[in-house]
Amino acid sequence: MPPHKHENSSGTAYENYLRIPELLRLQEPRYAGPAESVRSSELFFIVVHQSAELLLTQLVHDLRTASREACRTPSGRPEAEQRLRRCIGLVRLQEHHVEVLEHLPRQHFLAFREELGAASASGSAQFAEVFALLAADGEVQKLHRPGIRGGAALTSLVAELEEAVRCWQLAHLALVQRMLGDRAGTGGSSGVAWLRSRLLPAGRSPARTGRAGQRTRSA
Ligand code: HEM
Repeated sequence: MPPHKHENSSGTAYENYLRIPELLRLQEPRYAGPAESVRSSELFFIVVHQSAELLLTQLVHDLRTASREACRTPSGRPEAEQRLRRCIGLVRLQEHHVEVLEHLPRQHFLAFREELGAASASGSAQFAEVFALLAADGEVQKLHRPGIRGGAALTSLVAELEEAVRCWQLAHLALVQRMLGDRAGTGGSSGVAWLRSRLLPAGRSPARTGRAGQRTRSA
């Protein structure tokens, strides 16, 4: 078999397949102070966020596919259900990403925080896409359409997905409360107060619009 275009003679087949060397070159803490433990904590912070973005790639793809497949009823329904279950699993993994940051010492975070500049996950195009897909006028809501046969199963999966997003929001809020207290966010919002206004009431979807700097209330 001819070598694949990403084949690298020095790596194992596993490393070449997953492009591990390139992936592991992307974690670059900026903190240049004397405390090695702070630099280590910044690395931890970067790895958690990058990992979350990788998972989001799959989540966005599966959410889009679920909405498209559900519209091809009845043949697309099993595929839509399977994708929605996977989305629920992926959102729960996102929650674990937030939870593991309990092990990020607050003093370390505050020590490297200025390196972030205006960087904030509220500027994540992929997170914004997930919120847009789940919004009241988003693609995922097509799964509730009356014309879709077998809609009860899909409706209940969408509700489970929205609940998982709400749990993620609550875990994130608790983390931000611990890390920042009443400090403003790097993305330009008031921080905890703004995030609280974005909380999804049980059984609802997050607002489609409302970037952090705009201080827009959730729907
Ligand atoms: C030390 C850890 C963290 C702190 C202090 C923090 C803080 C904040 C703050 C203050 C905001 C409001 C926007 C702003 O002004 O910046 C925000 C938004 C956001 N954060 Fe975090 N965050 C942390 C970790 C994470 C992690 C691990 C994720 C996901 C992987 C995440 C995802 C988000 C998202 C998606 C938003 C936008 C929420 C929305 O649009 O409703 N954050 N964060």
